[in-house]
Amino acid sequence: MGIHFRGWGTAVPDRIVTNDELSATLDTTDEWIFERTGIRERRVGGSAGTLGLAAAQRALEDAGVTADTIDFVVLATTTPDNLIPATAPTIAAALGINAPAIDVNAACSGFMYGVRVASGLAATGASRMLVIGAEHLSRWTDWNDRTMAVLLGDGAGAAVIDAVDGPGDVLSFDLGSDGSLAHLLRCEHGGTIWMDGKEIFRRAVRIIVESAERAMSDAGVTSDQLALVIPHQANVRIISAACQRLGVDMDRAIVVLDRFGNTSSASIPLAVADARQRELLVAGDYVLMTGFGAGMTWASAVVRWSP
Ligand code: UT7
Repeated sequence: MGIHFRGWGTAVPDRIVTNDELSATLDTTDEWIFERTGIRERRVGGSAGTLGLAAAQRALEDAGVTADTIDFVVLATTTPDNLIPATAPTIAAALGINAPAIDVNAACSGFMYGVRVASGLAATGASRMLVIGAEHLSRWTDWNDRTMAVLLGDGAGAAVIDAVDGPGDVLSFDLGSDGSLAHLLRCEHGGTIWMDGKEIFRRAVRIIVESAERAMSDAGVTSDQLALVIPHQANVRIISAACQRLGVDMDRAIVVLDRFGNTSSASIPLAVADARQRELLVAGDYVLMTGFGAGMTWASAVVRWSP
């Protein structure tokens, strides 16, 4: 069995926080933030539950299917509404779904981990899954810390995924983790998010390139065959350094962090939605989706786009 992406949906809070707005209270500037990260503004508000639900509703609508046909819900989030219970069952209940519903925390790799879980579920008999990436990072942000506050944003994206006979859309996965690097990006209970930005940056480029190369090799696809790269949206300099090493022009990489900042698990589906809206995804195209984040974790997939 393989999997097919049947529909997509996204949701972001209405409230826009610009770099200039942050500069009014923090020792920073629009120039510094844009030059060092590529971010212009981010969205703030909602919760993983409310944003995830809205994205899921839109994905179901886009897929043209009803919620009662979903037989597994996977919510990728690093900022669940509560420690107990998980947020996925609450979203499922609001959709009228009684199927199994779980949270997966793999930070910024979370959405691709969710897709990997869906692929495994398809292989063991599930027929239709809802994979959501939703984050409420602003809740865990120290708004007085200029090193973190300028980077993060809230948002959600979701995909309805069908099990199909044959290879399906995802030709290969490469996932991994290295918990010995847990100290580089963390948030303790009741605390705020902290990271060693420089070290994460350095490792992220290497991890993306190595993981993408493994995924491409498994799929039998070379970087010049990639129509698009849909990367996790942490920093445009990371995306550009990784693309350069992979031999992919930046005009083949989707960048949405200028509008949304780093939305962790939500960033890849937000970028997919942007590519779809701009009609950049064409049937038969090879697309590389690749994420990395706290854990550290990483996850790449080579997809042959099928509308
Ligand atoms: O989602 C996955 C995890 N996250 C990431 O992948 C993020 C990875 N890291 C990064 O994107 C970058 O390392 C940052 C954007 C976090 C930082 O950029 P950088 O080019 O590595 O800057 P830096 O940390 O070396 O800081 C350079 C200077 C420092 O001042 P000094 O020591 O040179 O005087 C910082 O204190 O910039 C200062 N600085 C700021 N200045 C203005 C740090 N944050 C700010 C700020 N505004 N917001």
